[in-house]
Amino acid sequence: MTYDAFLELVKARRSVRRYKPDPVADEDIEKIVEAARWAPSGFNSQLWEFVVVRKPELRRQIGSIIGEARQRLFKGKAPTPNSENGPPQKIDVGWQEAPVFMLVFGDTRVRPLSHVPPVRTDDEKWTAVFYASLAVAFQHAALAAVSLGLGSQWMSAVQVPDVEAKIKDMLGVPEPLKIFDMLVLGYPEAMPPEKKMRPTKELIHFDDCGVDDFRTDEQVSMYFNNK
Ligand SMILES: Cc1cc2nc3c(=O)[nH]c(=O)nc-3n(C[C@H](O)[C@H](O)[C@H](O)COP(=O)(O)O)c2cc1C
Repeated sequence: MTYDAFLELVKARRSVRRYKPDPVADEDIEKIVEAARWAPSGFNSQLWEFVVVRKPELRRQIGSIIGEARQRLFKGKAPTPNSENGPPQKIDVGWQEAPVFMLVFGDTRVRPLSHVPPVRTDDEKWTAVFYASLAVAFQHAALAAVSLGLGSQWMSAVQVPDVEAKIKDMLGVPEPLKIFDMLVLGYPEAMPPEKKMRPTKELIHFDDCGVDDFRTDEQVSMYFNNK
């Protein structure tokens, strides 16, 4: 594979916010998980489990669990469905039309088995290893999806404690498995607009770079507010 082909794949991965209802073949789901399982993981724990939700009723229930949590979080300002040509919604709900919700869980039982003492004793270290390992697998899955012509969206609302509890209960996921995030998958109905990117040169800092080589507080907030 060439770098150009790789970069093309990376750039083609965007957060798709509107989906066709067309189903995703089981074969493609397997390919996506196959790519995810090759991800690196802290102490090679391979702590991941992938729960693939396809049944419409289960997806509908997950949608309403997340919807209720968002209502609370955004103080009752309910999201409205994206209209065909309307302005972008503050809280998008297009993901609810996607035919597959892939829930990624991490198995907390690996923690005491680690040969790395801080992972066992230091919550911060464990948390970093847990989330970093699962995030890499998650991104492998998202890139594999692109290669299969599928779109995806990263949904972290499932991490809200009562959302996690309700989803685990509904699907019968055992207690020691902790939810990471949900990858929404399906064929894109529309692609998002081009996104503003920080230039590469601004992000690279070679060798003994000093404070002046990095952004000021003002530049950080200016970029964030205008992105
Ligand atoms: C850790 C993480 C959590 C995210 N959580 C959500 C989410 O809960 N809902 C959502 O719509 N997008 C979520 N996103 C997607 C980002 O909004 C999106 O990646 C970003 O706006 C850049 O757009 P792009 O993915 O099209 O490049 C998340 C992304 C990451 C990396």
